[in-house]
Amino acid sequence: MTTTPELLTLRVKSATWEAQGVLAFELVPMDATTALPPFEAGAHINLYLGGNLVRSYSLHNLQTERHRYVIGVNLDAKSRGGSRHMHQVLRVGETIQVTHPSNNFHLKEDAAHTVLIAGGIGVTPLLGMARRLTQIGHPWQMIYAARSRASAAFVDTLRALATQASTTLHLHFDDEHGGKPFDMAGTLAALPAKIQKNGHAYCCGPLPMLAAFEAATTAWPREQVHLEYFSAPEAAAVEGGFVVELARSKRTVTIHSGNTILEALLDIGIEPPFSCQQGICGTCEVRVLEGIPDHRDLVLSDAEKNDNDRMMICCSGSKSPKLVLDL
Ligand code: FES
Repeated sequence: MTTTPELLTLRVKSATWEAQGVLAFELVPMDATTALPPFEAGAHINLYLGGNLVRSYSLHNLQTERHRYVIGVNLDAKSRGGSRHMHQVLRVGETIQVTHPSNNFHLKEDAAHTVLIAGGIGVTPLLGMARRLTQIGHPWQMIYAARSRASAAFVDTLRALATQASTTLHLHFDDEHGGKPFDMAGTLAALPAKIQKNGHAYCCGPLPMLAAFEAATTAWPREQVHLEYFSAPEAAAVEGGFVVELARSKRTVTIHSGNTILEALLDIGIEPPFSCQQGICGTCEVRVLEGIPDHRDLVLSDAEKNDNDRMMICCSGSKSPKLVLDL
C-alpha cells in the first residue's frame, strides 16, 4: 500500500513556444468557476505523466491568479521521459493530474532588496518572484544567464517587468562571451554594501551556477541566501546492507549495494510516488517509524533531518541495520 497525494485534474488550455526547446503550459480547472488551490512565488507542482513518471515544475504566473497554473518546460536532451512526454505526447485539450502546489523556495516579500539570479530554465520560479515583487512594489533586480539568446525563455516578459518596476535586468548569453559563464563572484561583490548586508538573494539554475552562487555568498547572512536545485549535488545512498520493513504492507525488503530504497521497492512491484529521483522535489517522502536514515536529500532542513521521522527514499539510505517505514 502506498501513499498518493491528493491530486487535481486540470486541462491543458495552451502550450506556447517560449524559446528554443521551451514550452509554457497553461493548466486550468475542468470547471472554470473553480478556484485552484493557492500558491506563493517559488512554488512548484508535480505532474503525473502516466506510470511512475512524476515531474516537478515551478509555477511562474502571478500567485493572485486562481484560475490557472502556468509552468515552463525545457526539452531536456537527456530526458528520462518527463520533458519528452510534455513536449511530444501531451496535447492541448487533454487532461493531466497534478499535486497541490508546494514550496521549498520561499520568497521573503518584505526584504529591503531582492536579487534574482537565473540560469536557463531555472528562470521559471524567479519569473514568478519578479512578477510578485513588481505587483507589490518591492525592489528587485535580476541576472539571467543562458547558453544562448535563442534558448533564453521569457526574456520579453522579464524586460517588461523590469521596465514596470524601474529596475535592471542583466542578460548574459554564454555563446556571446566565448562560452564563458557570467562572473557570479564579481557581480555579487559589486552590489552596494547595503544590499549585501540586508538584501535577499535567490538562485536557480544548473549545478555549476549554484556552486558559484554558494561560494560568492559565504559572507552573506545565511537566512538571506536562497537556492533551488534541479539536480542533486550529493550522490544517492546506494551502499545497501540494511533491511526496510514496510509497516502497512507488512513486507520486508533487503536493500543491496547498488540500489536505492526506491529502486528496491519498484523491483518487487511496490510503487510509491516519485519524481526527480534526486532528492530535490519531495515527492517520495515517507514517514520513518523506526531506525536512523542516512539523509541525502535537499528537501528537508537540517533540523527536520535530525528529527529522523521522515525521509526521501529515492536517495537516502540507512545508518541503522533496519528502517521501518510507513508504507
Ligand atoms: Fe524527488 Fe525523491 S523523488 S525527492
